[in-house]
Amino acid sequence: MYSEKVMDHFEHPRNVGEIADASGTGTVGNARCGDIMKMDIKVENNIITDVKFKTFGCCAAVATSSMATEMVKGKSVEEALQLTNKAVAEALDGLPAVKIHCSLLAEEAIHAALEDYHKKHPQGE
Ligand code: FES
Repeated sequence: MYSEKVMDHFEHPRNVGEIADASGTGTVGNARCGDIMKMDIKVENNIITDVKFKTFGCCAAVATSSMATEMVKGKSVEEALQLTNKAVAEALDGLPAVKIHCSLLAEEAIHAALEDYHKKHPQGE
């Protein structure tokens, strides 16, 4: 059902945890299943230097959060805002159709964290 990459990120998720002095934090939930994801980002000179997540969710939610953190780390705030759940799913060699909605959590959590960052640092950092 799941690709090898999905299983790898589920079994060995990257960037799990929290950032104590995060520049922005986003917490989102999936109304369909009740799963929750929290994403912390650290921004320095407009670059995402660190990102950590905690997901209370299914295999696809954990794998997509893990992949999403890898995809935005080192990117500019503007580049990270372009991240889509489709790109994350493709980077994982696809998700079963019934699990596509799970990947939305990762996109939404990154966007929520970036929104929080903009609110807290309207002039950048
Ligand atoms: Fe809830 Fe996948 S079933 S995020």
